[in-house]
Order: sequence, then C-alpha cells, then structure tokens
Amino acid sequence: MPQESYAGFFMEFLKNPGTVGAVAPSSQRLAMQTVNAIDWSRVKALAEFGPGTGAITQIILDRKPADVHFFAIERCGRFVSVLQERFPGLKVFEDNVANVRAVAESQGLKSIDAVISGLPWSSFSDENQTEYLEALVDVLGPGGQFATYAYLTGLPLPSARRFRKKLHKFFKHVRCTRTIWRNMPPAFVYHCSL
Ligand SMILES: C[S@@+](CC[C@H](N)C(=O)[O-])C[C@H]1O[C@@H](n2cnc3c(N)ncnc32)[C@H](O)[C@@H]1O
Repeated sequence: MPQESYAGFFMEFLKNPGTVGAVAPSSQRLAMQTVNAIDWSRVKALAEFGPGTGAITQIILDRKPADVHFFAIERCGRFVSVLQERFPGLKVFEDNVANVRAVAESQGLKSIDAVISGLPWSSFSDENQTEYLEALVDVLGPGGQFATYAYLTGLPLPSARRFRKKLHKFFKHVRCTRTIWRNMPPAFVYHCSL
C-alpha cells in the first residue's frame, strides 16, 4: 500500500477514533488469517464490513473464486475514494453496515453467505454492537459465516467481553484462531456460523 495511505489512515483515526478504531491498517498476516477462517466452499455471496484502505480487501480479491459476488460497505468517504482508486471495479458502498440488507437487495441479493469484518467492535457502544450484529445476522442465509478480528490487548475491556458474549448469543458456533503475534497489536480472529 502507498505510504500516503498509512498517513491517511492515521489522520482518519485522529478525526474519528471511535469508528476507525486502529492507528494503522491490519498486517498482511492478520488479513490472511481473517480471510482463511472462511470456508469458501460454502460461499456464493460475500460482504466486507469496514474495509478502510483495503488491507483485507486485497486478500479477499486474491483468494475468492471468480464467481463469488463480493461487495464492501465503508462509511468513511475518504477511505471509499482510496478503495476505488486501489481496486477499480470493486463494488464499494459508502454507507453504514446497519443498512447491509438494503445494500444487498440493491444488487439483487436476498441473502449472503459470509461477512468478513474489520469493524472496531470494542470501540462501539452496546447499542451499536447489537444493531450491527442484528443487521448482519438478518442478511446471512442458513449456515452463514462471519469472520472478524480482535486485539488481544483489548480483551479485558468490558466492551470486548460484551461483544464476545453477544457472538455466542447471535451465532450457533463461535471459535477463535491462534494469536497473530506479529500484528501490532497482536490479534486473533473469531469465526462464527449460524
Ligand atoms: C479498524 S478500521 C479497519 C480497516 C481495515 N479493514 C483493516 O483491517 O485494516 C475500521 C473501519 O471500519 C469503518 N467503519 C466503522 N464503523 C462503520 C459502520 N458502522 N459502517 C461502515 N463502516 C464502518 C471505519 O471507517 C474504518 O474504515
């Protein structure tokens, strides 16, 4: 990624710490662990939540079979411009993930099979965590999958513990991958399915 994008990412963090939630994009290792958590044999339509400047988007585009329908939802206009320049042809919507059903329907999709998320869940209020998880579960079809990462250092936070509890409430299966120590800060991935 161009150096300018790291600076741009940090500037957005300074402006909106609660929604950007990280000072730098995810490392390639963490992005790969997040994308590889998904069982791709069961995916025909996929959404990415909060792609930022595209660290995970790049790995999704490298990994996904050609016939998988893929779109991304990002609320920050500056990041949407970066994504459009970096990935011409990417379907990226400047919107709130709470509207994922409407965004999917605008593309003729009644449901999707998987969501990969870079949202900073532990920065969100109780209400926003619930709102986004409800929207996500509402748009997932039977057996739908969800992958999202969490920082190890953030785990003691009440908001992170609350998020983990909600995952168990919203999903039938929840598992954690091993920790990626070479991400800053170290992180792991939740893989959930209905
Ligand atoms: C921690 S950054 C992750 C960026 C990238 N996925 C990565 O891993 O490097 C979180 C991203 O989620 C976006 N975001 C936060 N809340 C959102 C919402 N409700 N709807 C859409 N995007 C949101 C932010 O603008 C930001 O780009």
